[in-house]
Amino acid sequence: MARRSPIRRERQLLPQPVSPRTAALVDLDAEAAALRELRQSLGRTPREIPSKYFYDDRGSALFEQITRLPEYYPTRTERALLIERAQEKTVGLLDAVLADGGRPRYIAVDISAHALGRTRDILAAARPEVPVEQVLADYTRELRLPERPAGGRRLVLFLGGTIGNEEDADAVRLLARVREHLDPGDVLLLGANLVTDPALIHAAYNDAQGVTAEFNRNLLRAVNSFARSGFDPSAFDHYAPYDVEKRRIEMWLVARSALEVDLGRLGSVLRLRKGEGIRTEISRRFMRDEVLRLIDAAGFTPERWMESADGRFGLALGLSRRSLRGL
Ligand code: AVI
Repeated sequence: MARRSPIRRERQLLPQPVSPRTAALVDLDAEAAALRELRQSLGRTPREIPSKYFYDDRGSALFEQITRLPEYYPTRTERALLIERAQEKTVGLLDAVLADGGRPRYIAVDISAHALGRTRDILAAARPEVPVEQVLADYTRELRLPERPAGGRRLVLFLGGTIGNEEDADAVRLLARVREHLDPGDVLLLGANLVTDPALIHAAYNDAQGVTAEFNRNLLRAVNSFARSGFDPSAFDHYAPYDVEKRRIEMWLVARSALEVDLGRLGSVLRLRKGEGIRTEISRRFMRDEVLRLIDAAGFTPERWMESADGRFGLALGLSRRSLRGL
């Protein structure tokens, strides 16, 4: 999976404003569930907005920009590790299969139609002989994949450190859902950010150009467009501290003054005090054994571990088996 991730539906899943012309395409159950989830998240202590709202078209483009920032080390560290140890990301892996006489199909799974389109275009230009299928899905909720051809094997790429955006239980649930689409012996390649210098991690989420701050605030635009709410992104500060004890970045949007926000289709008003925050993301840093335990708990037997020379990023290769173990 890309992110976001290479496992990536023909419909835009990220909540869109409902117009009469698109109403027929809207899955009402999914929409009601998403509204419920958003209402519950905002009502929690601390208040939260699910990080999937980052990835509307603008947010996906901002995320791409983040991956090229000098401060954002994870993407280039993972890429170097893949080149050195597991071949260059997607294209290299596809070449390895092609060189072996295989006929690979690439199934891209993402919550963002924009990101799916980019993946399709990049792959079509690089390896036109490889068919690319697109699955527009919020894989944190459910995952439906096209049938596999008889005799085919699957390699799931869950790269970019996206697993670190989940708490343990959610991470295991997500990986276990992926495993349901695999046969014993199919392979998972999982990328994870590792514990490293706190200052370096902090800088990666507090870049000098303010791209991450804009990415964070843009989530409120995506929420407004879905919920028809009235958040004013400029009324919030980006705040992203690294918690050394919990070993994770937390991204927050903090109200600059006392605010009342009309929550539109959520049917209420959100009152925030000056300085009150809404948590928008966690981004964890792991120890090797934690990553191996996660994949094991989800039904993958750890087969290989690869780590960047600077110890900042790791790749775990796991073989799918029948049973889960639980954490
Ligand atoms: C998608 N995910 C792995 C990114 C991360 O680093 O946790 C999202 C991100 N948030 C801020 N910058 C990048």
